[in-house]
Order: sequence, then C-alpha cells, then structure tokens
Amino acid sequence: MGKDVIIACDFDSAEKVFAFLDKFTGKKPFVKIGMELYYAEGPAIVREIKRRGHKIFLDLKLHDIPNTVKKSMAVLSRLDVDMTNLHAAGTTRMMEAALEGLTREDGSRPMLIAVTQLTSTDQESMEKDLLIKEPIAEVVMHYAHNAKVAGLDGVVCSPLEAGKVHERCGEGFVTVTPGVRFADGDVGDQKRVMTPAEAKKIGSDYIVVGRPITAAADPVAAYERCVAEFCD
Ligand code: C5P
Repeated sequence: MGKDVIIACDFDSAEKVFAFLDKFTGKKPFVKIGMELYYAEGPAIVREIKRRGHKIFLDLKLHDIPNTVKKSMAVLSRLDVDMTNLHAAGTTRMMEAALEGLTREDGSRPMLIAVTQLTSTDQESMEKDLLIKEPIAEVVMHYAHNAKVAGLDGVVCSPLEAGKVHERCGEGFVTVTPGVRFADGDVGDQKRVMTPAEAKKIGSDYIVVGRPITAAADPVAAYERCVAEFCD
C-alpha cells in the first residue's frame, strides 16, 4: 500500500472533469469520483477515466440491507475501480456482505473502506438526531473497529483521527483523510484541516484533496505540491 494523493473530482459533468484531467499530461493522478459526477454521468464515466489510466476511488457510500449492498458491490466490482466505500453505520453484517459481493471469482477485489461518522456530524446532532449518546471520538473508533472485524481495509476519517485509528486497528489498516489544506490556502467550509505535510506526519495513508487542486489557478502545480509534501 503506497501513500498517495487522491484528487476529489467534484464536477457535475463529463465535459468539466475531462477539461480538468486533460491538464495532467504527466503522471495520471488517483481520482475520487463521488455521487455528483456518478449520478450525472453513470458508470460510463468510471470506465472512461479508468481507460485514461487513472486509479479510481468510487465514493458512493453504500448503506442498505446486507443483501442489497452485496449485490450492488458485485456490480461495482465489475467496474474495476481501485477503492470503494460504504457506511459503517450499516452494521458489521452489512460490511461483511459488501466484502463478499465485491470479491471477484479469482479472489481479487477493490479496496473497501468505511465511512465512520461524517465530519459534518457533531456531538450534538449525533445525540439529538441519532440518539447516540457516546462521545463522538469513541463512536468513530468503535465503527473503525467494526470495519476491521468485518475484514475491510480501512476507513475514511479526519486527519486528526488517523493516528488513533492506527493505534486501535493496526498500522496496516488504511486511513483515507479529506480536510486537507495548504498552510497558506483557503479553508473553505472544512472545519478541521491539516496540511499535506502534517497529514503525512500523523500517518494518513491517502489524502483526499478537492478544491485546493480543482480550484487552483494551476491545478497541476497544486497537485505536485501536495505530492511533494505528502509522498516524498
Ligand atoms: O474540496 P475539498 O478538499 O474540501 O474536498 C474534500 C472531498 O472529500 C469532498 O469530495 C468531500 O465530499 C469529501 N469528504 C469530506 N469529508 C468527509 C468525507 C468526505 O470532505 N468526512
């Protein structure tokens, strides 16, 4: 497993994402395709970006009954992405079913990682809306542990949680962390942020970076800066 920078391609059309990716004439970055682009363009966008030589994290955050998730994961597995995800809140049984569905006949499969609590959920909304009374940091660690028990490869978490996840679930358990900003950059709507260099120090395995690259005047230079700070 290598440290890598994953670009969040949060665009609403194929045209926009290709205009962006066409700028990368050298190394083809690892990209994240989320719900916005997937729902706009369907599986064809995944195949085309793959054909262009990019690794893909398909971020669709599945959460349904185990049987439905298992069958959906089997379909996603055929898209030949490198990484995909689900909500740990769907239970350990759902995560086990997902893994089964994702595994191809030859035993190979994309990496499967779990979302613990979304970073948009805070203690108050968790207690009031979800009636979960435990401290959020413990809920995150418990969900990460469940994902590990179910056989998943890792979790999406804030860079601030990555070190603790490794302590609880082992160094080999992958942490994928959004909320990354350059020291001199705009924070935007992210609340808890870290620079690529800090994320590296704390032990993130992959950082997911969107607007600091997609909205930069020179996206390729911004990407290369991330790689230099995080990977080298
Ligand atoms: O533009 P920005 O760098 O904030 O993009 C971060 C990406 O990571 C977005 O695609 C966002 O949906 C995703 N993400 C996040 N926080 C989470 C989970 C996913 O920012 N907890």
